[in-house]
Amino acid sequence: MTEEWQGWREAAETALYGDGGFYRSPVRSPDGPAGHFRTSVHASPLFARAVAGLLARTAAELGIGTVALVDVGAGRGELLTGVLAATPEGLEVVPYGVEVAARPPGLDPRIVWCTEPPRGVSGLLFANEWLDNVPVDVAEVDGEGVARYVQVRIPDGGERLGPPVTGADAAWLERWWPLSVPGERAEIGRPRDLAWARAVGSLEAGLAVAVDYAHVRGARPPFGTLTGFRGGREVLPVPDGSCDLTAHVALDACAAAVDRGAAELTGQRAALGRLGVSGERPPLSLAATDPAAYVTALAAAGEAAELTARGGLGDFGWLLHRVGAELR
Ligand SMILES: C[S@@+](CC[C@H](N)C(=O)[O-])C[C@H]1O[C@@H](n2cnc3c(N)ncnc32)[C@H](O)[C@@H]1O
Repeated sequence: MTEEWQGWREAAETALYGDGGFYRSPVRSPDGPAGHFRTSVHASPLFARAVAGLLARTAAELGIGTVALVDVGAGRGELLTGVLAATPEGLEVVPYGVEVAARPPGLDPRIVWCTEPPRGVSGLLFANEWLDNVPVDVAEVDGEGVARYVQVRIPDGGERLGPPVTGADAAWLERWWPLSVPGERAEIGRPRDLAWARAVGSLEAGLAVAVDYAHVRGARPPFGTLTGFRGGREVLPVPDGSCDLTAHVALDACAAAVDRGAAELTGQRAALGRLGVSGERPPLSLAATDPAAYVTALAAAGEAAELTARGGLGDFGWLLHRVGAELR
């Protein structure tokens, strides 16, 4: 195999989404993302129920009885399936799964499977762990204090420093992730800002939510977060199509890239709390009066605790962007 050096963005684009790439290959990922890592969607049906609640709230705010649910980075449609099962009676949902991978067999026929968000719909657009998989370039400061693109070797993942970062990427770094000390690294989030702005822009009115591992200016990780996952384990990031390639998301930059509506940045613990999910255990007295209900409530509390755990899923960022509704 020939050796080739590329920027991380280009290398990851091919490794994840090219022909036979990690997310497109039924051989590498027969069970989809769920075969390689556990997202909130897989952790508990409580997550889909909370999203169903948010969908109903959004429809009520918009004053509509038929509402779109757009799941961006839909995996195998697990979240859509869960939300459809939990949708309150009387609310008509038009579900869309936006995915680069093929439509999974046996999916609810109501779900429209597409590669781009539908334009001009009103409702809820939800993107759980999508933006961290939008490929980005990586910058590193050299011994002279110059930020340079990191280049990666195909196929073994070796790295070297390439040309200096210039233009729009340099402006992005200066605004969102300033670097100065030799050895410091940053993931240049510009492609995610653009992807998020495009996704939000597809909504006529409603709420767009991005949920991801996140950081904000002033608290960026000094060496970045680029890493790999395969079969449930964290592995070295190698862009050969054999593993997921992911880096935490500068959600504050994504928020600022949208020039309409109003954005709010919060954490999963708080966001799910507002939707009625909390890890609070049922009162012990219930065990005596209704043991079956106690066991059910205890199991739900355990799942909620995982979704809201400090140092775990509870630390995920939620970016909520409301558009159009303020005009009504
Ligand atoms: C980490 S998985 C998350 C799956 C699911 N949302 C969940 O939470 O379990 C990311 C998914 O986003 C999809 N994806 C990434 N970029 C995409 C794009 N530009 N358009 C559509 N799907 C994309 C990948 O194929 C993958 O299925």
